Amino acid sequence: MTRHFLKDTDLSPDELTEVLDLAEELKAAPYSMRPLEGPQTVAVFFDKTSTRTRVSFAAGVSQLGGSPLIINPGESQLGHKESIPDTARVLDRMVSAIVWRTFAQSGLEQMAEHASVPVINALSDDYHPCQILADLVTIREHRGTGEGNGLAGLTMSYYGDGANNMANSYALGGVNAGMHVRIAAPAGYQPADHVVAEARALGRRTGGTLTVTEDPLAAAQDADVLVTDTWVSMGQDSTGRDDSGSPFARFQVTDELMSLGRDPIFLHCLPAYRGKEVAASVIDGPASVVFDEAENRLHAQKALLTWLLSN
Ligand code: CP
Ligand code: NVA
Repeated sequence: MTRHFLKDTDLSPDELTEVLDLAEELKAAPYSMRPLEGPQTVAVFFDKTSTRTRVSFAAGVSQLGGSPLIINPGESQLGHKESIPDTARVLDRMVSAIVWRTFAQSGLEQMAEHASVPVINALSDDYHPCQILADLVTIREHRGTGEGNGLAGLTMSYYGDGANNMANSYALGGVNAGMHVRIAAPAGYQPADHVVAEARALGRRTGGTLTVTEDPLAAAQDADVLVTDTWVSMGQDSTGRDDSGSPFARFQVTDELMSLGRDPIFLHCLPAYRGKEVAASVIDGPASVVFDEAENRLHAQKALLTWLLSN
């Protein structure tokens, strides 16, 4: 059966460890695995803008011996002239994997249902699982415990929009790794009930936990990782949402919050807005590992492709 990666829990906890281990191997020896030799083509669709995801998939597919085909918004028939099922049935005659950044998670599910090659979520309104893989690689590098998967038992505190794609993926991906995930967000911007329920059910297997709070100070206490994301995600700007007078202001990651953690590192998926979700002194300071995190998109996605194509 073809394996897809549409959300964080599409890898079991053990499979997640396999992918993280592969990413570590690929980071040490970038040209050591050639699952796309041929070259085979990977189609990479964007319905939203991107820098990191675009470049890391393009470079990653090439490094695995393949050829990336980047399709920008409005360049294909998908979504206006042609249905998702027909697109899937055409693509899987020609390419070895389909990577798609889009709006609705249901579109990705439909693509996966009709494609016989792996479909990878390169960000949707609901999840950004490739980013969390890179973040877990980064946390292991900088704060790994050296036991088990290197992550179980660590505490990761996320600040800001607790209902967006990053928050959802931290909740599921972090708990999948056995971590204690805290989401600090204002009322009205906290994770949906189904995300909380799924993360907590998963935690009963992995030992991970999910805490949702409106108290930014409590969330930082003894945390190993502090992380945030933009207050206005792609697609939300056109709905009139902006970051002035924001309900998120007291959830900005500051030096004070960092000082409450247990020698924490700071992560941000980028692009970042200094003076909004994070103080410049934090993201540009010594605890920030955001550019390692960006680099790790490359290694994590190469590992994911290699794993999916061999399973
Ligand atoms: N973090 C991330 O996905 O960045 P891009 O939007 O630039 O791809
Ligand atoms: N939440 C952000 C993540 C960007 C990588 C967005 O969807 O715009």
